[in-house]
Amino acid sequence: SRFVSARSFQALSVLGRSFSTTQQDSNKVVILGASGGIGQPLSLLMKENKRVSHLALYDIAHTKGVAADLSHIATPAKVTGHTGPEELSACLQGADVVVIPAGVPRKPGMTRDDLFNTNASIVRDLSEACARNCPEAVLCIISNPVNSTVPIASEVFKKAGVHNPDKIFGVTTLDVVRANTFIAEAKNLDVSQVNVPVVGGHSGVTIIPLVSQATPAISFPYADRGRISERIQNAGTEVVEAKAGTGSATLSMAYAGAKFVNSMLGALNGQQGIVECAYVKSDETEASYFATPLLLGKKGLEKNLGLGKLLEFEVELLKKAMPELKANIKKGEDFVNGN
Ligand code: NAI
Repeated sequence: SRFVSARSFQALSVLGRSFSTTQQDSNKVVILGASGGIGQPLSLLMKENKRVSHLALYDIAHTKGVAADLSHIATPAKVTGHTGPEELSACLQGADVVVIPAGVPRKPGMTRDDLFNTNASIVRDLSEACARNCPEAVLCIISNPVNSTVPIASEVFKKAGVHNPDKIFGVTTLDVVRANTFIAEAKNLDVSQVNVPVVGGHSGVTIIPLVSQATPAISFPYADRGRISERIQNAGTEVVEAKAGTGSATLSMAYAGAKFVNSMLGALNGQQGIVECAYVKSDETEASYFATPLLLGKKGLEKNLGLGKLLEFEVELLKKAMPELKANIKKGEDFVNGN
């Protein structure tokens, strides 16, 4: 008959479900700092991600409430909440990807380096727990100053004897997201088609947008190029000032973090050709950590795609970035090694 009976409809939908369940990737994603301004919307976006089978949320406060709330959303990911250091190990065990947005954000007038004193020890302690409980997991570090917190995590992993530079990433996706948005606006382009690589570090002059390598190809007169590069470098401060003391970028960061983690999960599960910019251990410049476009793969970083061909203007930006970037890296390494 043309009509599907209630019973066979039920059977079909059960079939449909079990079919989609077998297609579901099985990945445990952990968020450390899950109750915060970034942590909550990032957790929401990860709860919606079909590649996530278990979303484990950790914070020093309020995690149970966030987890209970998210657990009612009708998507497959199982949500667990873990509060305080005694619940951290259980949260991390079996993790495929650990995202770290724990730590204090900037207030007006602060640089990202001003956060070092508070956030360095938070990232050190959380990295130690990762090295102990899930040394094979991919680490995605959002906590600022990223230029220093990534070297901190690396040194901690080295000390624990489990360092794999292909699995530790500083999340700089927000710089790319901002560059895409501002350039699409300036050139009246469909933002979904725009991709601007942003290299270097993640603070002020260390953020280097490579407008000459944008897709689609675009060009700006010299003065405009300076203005748009500066806007991308100072975009975080734009948000800090607009929020007037209540925090820094959280919603756009959650979007960017979810985009990066989704790319990472795709690559870890065998999707080919996935490229994201991120801040990693690097031989591309004289700075020992540097963000460039990276080909991601089943084991994390598969191939560093490097800087490509730079315009004179971009070479100047690179020169300006080096002293601050190198100092930030050394500060992170010295913090762990007690120098
Ligand atoms: P927030 O203060 O709203 O949230 C931070 C969360 O971390 C809080 O829930 C707090 O309880 C938690 N936390 C503190 N110590 C912890 C510990 N030892 N273990 C686990 N959780 C801990 O801050 P927000 O706005 O979420 O920012 C977080 C970090 O992300 C800041 O360092 C900020 O500078 C950085 N950030 C990075 C960006 C990037 O592009 N990479 C962009 C925007 C912010």
